[in-house]
Amino acid sequence: MASGKKDSWGSSLGVILAVTGSAVGLGNFLRFPGLAAKYGGGSFLVPYFLALLLLGLPIAWSEWAMGRFGGQHGYNSCPGIFRSIWKHRLSPYFGVLGLLVPVVIYMYYLWIESWCLGYAWKYLTGQMNLGIDQAPYREHFSSFVGLHADGDFLSHGFNLPVICLLVCVFLNFYFIYRGLSGGIEKVCLWGMPLLVLCALIVLGRVLTLGTPDPTHPELNVLAGLAYMWDIRGGLSGFMKSLSNAEMWMAAAGQIFFTLSVGFGVVLNYSSYLKKRDDIALSSTTAVAGNEFCEVSLGGLITIPAAFLFLGAAGTVGGTFGLGFQTLPLVFAHMPAGQLFGFLWFFLLFIAAITSSLSMLQPAIAFMEEGLDLDRRGSVSLLGFITIIGTGLVIWFSKDLAALDAMDFWVGSFCIFVLATIQTLLYSWVLGVKRGRAELERGALLPIPRIFDFIIRYISPAYLLGVFAVWLHQKGAENLAAIRTQPSVRIALLFVAAVLILFLLLIARAVRVWRAREGSKT
Ligand code: PHE
Repeated sequence: MASGKKDSWGSSLGVILAVTGSAVGLGNFLRFPGLAAKYGGGSFLVPYFLALLLLGLPIAWSEWAMGRFGGQHGYNSCPGIFRSIWKHRLSPYFGVLGLLVPVVIYMYYLWIESWCLGYAWKYLTGQMNLGIDQAPYREHFSSFVGLHADGDFLSHGFNLPVICLLVCVFLNFYFIYRGLSGGIEKVCLWGMPLLVLCALIVLGRVLTLGTPDPTHPELNVLAGLAYMWDIRGGLSGFMKSLSNAEMWMAAAGQIFFTLSVGFGVVLNYSSYLKKRDDIALSSTTAVAGNEFCEVSLGGLITIPAAFLFLGAAGTVGGTFGLGFQTLPLVFAHMPAGQLFGFLWFFLLFIAAITSSLSMLQPAIAFMEEGLDLDRRGSVSLLGFITIIGTGLVIWFSKDLAALDAMDFWVGSFCIFVLATIQTLLYSWVLGVKRGRAELERGALLPIPRIFDFIIRYISPAYLLGVFAVWLHQKGAENLAAIRTQPSVRIALLFVAAVLILFLLLIARAVRVWRAREGSKT
């Protein structure tokens, strides 16, 4: 059993909001609408909701159950929790991904978070009046992040983008330092309602825009919503789009990303619960809250707004293009656009910070319980590692090469691997019977019987199937990028170094845990 004073949540609402805060992020407001637009709106929802029911929700339930189980055995970190479930010498080492994945995602997510803060500031201070053409917004984004050449981001000295990044680093580590109930929980208790309020105001504005340009009656709110949600091309179009393997992979990946499941984050958050605390209703509420923010808020704002002012052509451009180039242009066309622009980027910033905090906590928990570091020590060590990582991401800013490489290999590839390990661990090592007993203890919601079957057979098969197709389609191109782009190689070498460091630290933690167990018997 690990020792030391245990951190814990202040209230059950607190933990639900913290998990929802982790889940609701840039993925909901930028990534989801971008994918839905790319894969034909309504059709995308079929693989999306299937992945939610067969992967997202079952894995969320199992992750909450394993987390609380591990917490009861004295562990809050993924390696420790794996060790409490699977009594094998190697089990903690499998948990390394539960540290690496969130920490590496944090390294680039933080940068995007700082763009949101920067844009919010610029709207607030009236610096975003760039006219009603697309080009200035594109150029603004390129120079804000330094897309043209490596090192560009840092070449202008102490300017707004750099200041925003430093503010974000400070805020994240300040709140992490304050601890679970004093930091993360407080930020989420205030931040989540504020975020939803801002989103509702922006949504209200978008839905009441009517037909903004009378000379273009076809560009109206209903047409915008139809563009987002209609199945294009009738039944044959629907069948054709369903046969697109890439869409199925994108939908499954989006489910993991948006729910924050398969990352080790939920495992860590739920480990602080008490033995009889409900997990069934809490996990389902967090999933439902995320889906509300994703489908009802994210899905109704971004694409319909872009369509209203710019037509179908305005809805393409990928996640960042849509969020940081197209939407500012949309706000420029909108009455009181400065205010709505501010609300939009401010809500993105809050959504992002409640997510990035959750990426740091798993590693902090590990350093405290495995290396016997105090809060100051663990925050300093993690701060040091992540500053180098973020430094690499922002240095290799040309075409966001390092960010993309980390996002592919860690933010997608490793997530599939970790989610598969977790599913197997739950259904075959802990066992669905013990797992269900864990889920049902204190449960305020019955978990349907079919869940046992799904998590045991369907989820792993689904995961492996999607994973194989995805590697087949995307692997070669990404391997080629490693060969041809030095920046990608350097970023990934750094990731490998962090992986090795974490493995070594786990070896040390195992010695500490063994010694502790020895002294107890
Ligand atoms: N779920 C977050 C989003 O939708 C991203 C995230 C990834 C959060 C990994 C925590 C861990 O943006």
